[in-house]
Amino acid sequence: MPHIIGERVYLREYLSSDIEALYRWRTLDEIVWWTGAYVWPESLAQAQIFVEAQMNDTDKANRKFVICRQEDDKYLGHIGYEYLDLRRQNAELGIVIGEMNFLSKGLGEEAIRLFLKVCFEELNLHRVGLRVIRENKRGFRCYQKCGFREEGILREWHFSRGKWHDLVLMGILKEEYQAGLLI
Ligand SMILES: CC(C)(COP(=O)(O)OP(=O)(O)OC[C@H]1O[C@@H](n2cnc3c(N)ncnc32)[C@H](O)[C@@H]1OP(=O)(O)O)[C@@H](O)C(=O)NCCC(=O)NCCS
Repeated sequence: MPHIIGERVYLREYLSSDIEALYRWRTLDEIVWWTGAYVWPESLAQAQIFVEAQMNDTDKANRKFVICRQEDDKYLGHIGYEYLDLRRQNAELGIVIGEMNFLSKGLGEEAIRLFLKVCFEELNLHRVGLRVIRENKRGFRCYQKCGFREEGILREWHFSRGKWHDLVLMGILKEEYQAGLLI
């Protein structure tokens, strides 16, 4: 994927110079908590393995693209597919902005809109889905702004911080994406 340029952010491929920035947010408990994931990579060496796999394109179904700030090329986080399925024209979206100071500033919305353009206009996907833990109100609101609809709930899917958490399934269809462009 070439650079995808937006107003305040752009998306690009991973580079080996991103290893430390990736590892930094993976060590931030607060950020990892919102993703509903377990910490991985757990070490700088694992971060290197992750970035090298991205650079060598060895994990095509789980590609990630770096979100950079336009004004200074700062690494903000990443966005990409989880489970790209070209036969079914489906993918799941995963996104992280890895610094608390940069959340809730509309940067996630812009990155998602850029990425949906790739999904629907270049890859010709029919549907893009995502999963978000119910407590992640900021993520949920951001996805709603981008046109995702709530589709269902997986009850008590994730155990963290001493209790079970529901997972909300969301999705956007190509026709909904296209209708949004007309508004
Ligand atoms: C989820 C994420 C990508 C969204 O990107 P973002 O740039 O923070 O989101 P945006 O600023 O575009 O939109 C966030 C919206 O949530 C709102 N919001 C923030 N906190 C909220 C809360 N506690 N309750 C309700 N809404 C909230 C913001 O006001 C904003 O809505 P608005 O534009 O209508 O005012 C980003 O927050 C992130 O990476 N978070 C940490 C990791 C994570 O949660 N990853 C996603 C896992 S599914």
